Amino acid sequence: MTPTEPLEPPPRILLGPGPSAVNPRVLRALSMPLVGHLDPVFLRIMDDTKRLLQFVFQTRNELTIPISGTGSAGMEACLVNLLEPGDEAVVCINGVFGTRMSDIVERCGARPVKVEAPWGRVIDPADLAAALKRCARPKLVAIVHAETSTGAWQPLEDIGALAHAAGTLFVVDTVTSLGGCPVRVDDWGIDACYSGTQKCLSCPPGLSPITFGPRAVEVLRHRKSKVQSWYLDLTMIEKYWGADRIYHHTAPISMNYALYEALRLVEEEGLEARWSRHERNHHALKAGLAAIGLTIASQENHQLWTLNSVRIPDGVDDARVRTALLDEFNIEIGGGLGALKGKTWRIGLMGDSSTAANVLLVLSALERVLPRCGYAVTAGAAVAAAGRAYAASPP
Ligand SMILES: Cc1ncc(COP(=O)(O)O)c(C=O)c1O
Repeated sequence: MTPTEPLEPPPRILLGPGPSAVNPRVLRALSMPLVGHLDPVFLRIMDDTKRLLQFVFQTRNELTIPISGTGSAGMEACLVNLLEPGDEAVVCINGVFGTRMSDIVERCGARPVKVEAPWGRVIDPADLAAALKRCARPKLVAIVHAETSTGAWQPLEDIGALAHAAGTLFVVDTVTSLGGCPVRVDDWGIDACYSGTQKCLSCPPGLSPITFGPRAVEVLRHRKSKVQSWYLDLTMIEKYWGADRIYHHTAPISMNYALYEALRLVEEEGLEARWSRHERNHHALKAGLAAIGLTIASQENHQLWTLNSVRIPDGVDDARVRTALLDEFNIEIGGGLGALKGKTWRIGLMGDSSTAANVLLVLSALERVLPRCGYAVTAGAAVAAAGRAYAASPP
């Protein structure tokens, strides 16, 4: 038998929809000695992680913890803990992740009332208002802040105000926004919010930070039925993360080290500085793409800084370009999802991947690859335009 090959993943430049680049300090944290999940040292790390998560979510919510599992576990945790069979939940859908929320709502035995917008566009508050009028007693309104499948950036204040006026909870997916653009849980009246570690927090995938505010906790306390998922039942998990320290499941120790270190990096950089870095790199990329005739596919004025959805020019083979970027330049970008498959590329500029060096690199790689794939560009035009954008907005 030939021996199994050693593990030698290539050092990719991760400019897709996630995961993003992981800082060497976070990689080092992953390799640190394990302690037990009830070791006093780990308990201190847990408390500091809660405090750091409150900072990135901009909240005072006590129930602010990382769920063991990826972003979808956070999504599921929010919905299974708040919904009971027979409930109505208004779900806003303008891409893959709103669709996923609706699927989970159904699996909770609740009825999703869908408010839809074309993929790439944001949800119109008037459509939500109309949907809320059609509901008898909606329990929550759920929406995605940053639709990774389309690059659309949803404004939240009006949506939250409508949800509260109708007496519902306001649940928000911040998987592709937390740490990359403003997320203000308390100021925006968000009752339950979840994210993921592998996007703008620049940590490997594996944990899902969540926060539950007082109204959501009240709903949790007064449930008539048991939470349908044992693993994600917050009534039990909070007893491990709170003062009782009661074992629920063995915390993924190394992933929690990684998140702790990733959050320390966010704290050191400062939230505002981090948001501006993401903003600046997005604008430089957009300027560079425009110089070679490539446009952002999501709605104007609602384009994410963290995920750039780029229209593929007619006649250009999606996969051929992405394969050339990967094989020749070690760069990963994403393809379109669902309805946008073959129509868009997704260039992520998240966390440690959001750098001027990466923007200039991907533009220069595109300048080299595109002409071979049937799309003529003026050599150097994209890089020069991005350079001008940087010069016009110094950090
Ligand atoms: C907006 C959004 N929500 C939820 C998820 C699900 O997260 P995960 O793939 O980590 O389970 C993703 C993943 O890309 C996402 O982008």
